[in-house]
Amino acid sequence: MRSYLNGKFVDADAAVVPVTDRGFMFGDGVYEVTRSAGGDLIELTRHVRRLTRNLREMAISLRESDVATMVDVSRTLLRDNRLDGDALVYWQVTRGAAPRVHQFPPVGTVPTVYVATMPVTLPHAVRTRGAVAITTPDIRWARCDVKTVNLLPNTLAKQRAVESGADEAIFVRDGTITEGASSNVFAVLDGELRTHPRSPYILPGVTRDVVLEVAGEAGMSVREEPFRPDDLARASELFFTSTFNDVMPIVRVDGRTIGSGRPGPVAQQLYAAFLERVSPVAAAP
Ligand code: PDD
Repeated sequence: MRSYLNGKFVDADAAVVPVTDRGFMFGDGVYEVTRSAGGDLIELTRHVRRLTRNLREMAISLRESDVATMVDVSRTLLRDNRLDGDALVYWQVTRGAAPRVHQFPPVGTVPTVYVATMPVTLPHAVRTRGAVAITTPDIRWARCDVKTVNLLPNTLAKQRAVESGADEAIFVRDGTITEGASSNVFAVLDGELRTHPRSPYILPGVTRDVVLEVAGEAGMSVREEPFRPDDLARASELFFTSTFNDVMPIVRVDGRTIGSGRPGPVAQQLYAAFLERVSPVAAAP
């Protein structure tokens, strides 16, 4: 596989950054994961907008033209790596390599820019049986709206989930469900679609935005208001959304069955509407 690092196309195995890179030292960088099917990128504009915002929020200076280059490079890599089926596209920008001090490095330090593509098998089998989740305390910082490479609480939560045989960990902060370790979470409560509102405590997922849009278009009642683990007992459905999972029904949380214990009609309808919305880029299985 070819990848791209700091202006050069390189073999993925040969893509190396100095140990002084601030991404390595401090987790001082931001990233995006987007998906392609048939060589084109799903919801590209939203991913570019989020990357640009995150760079600005973290005061990492990358020119607009450099972001445009990352998009061009992604398409080149998909073609050169012959990824004309489902693939993930990974973008990472760090504050660059510089002697280790906590404060920002000298002006003129060049950000590290990395682009990679990889084939992916989408989790259709999990979608058919329904995913299993655990809840776990949300111990993250108060800027979860920025997609930084500081992912330690997320990796710890996901590891706990996997060790207990689950597919996803759901974060709980101050008694309310925020989001998943790598996804946004929705419930169907009293016939209404509910999800945590945009706030510093969740990542504004691209899939979340599209799902909210298609739900609105389908005439569903949607409320962006937090819900609590206690509410799950009366939820008719629960699902999570992400670039890799699209819309993924959850049938069990902490060993308790959700709704009928099978993927429900709302998640199925939203998944179909999501696919239609992003097609012809993403095709149904
Ligand atoms: N994660 N919340 C968190 C904490 C995430 O890490 C992600 C995605 C999402 C969903 O965002 P989107 O719909 O834009 O993919 C929500 C990616 C896929 C990852 O880290 O691999």
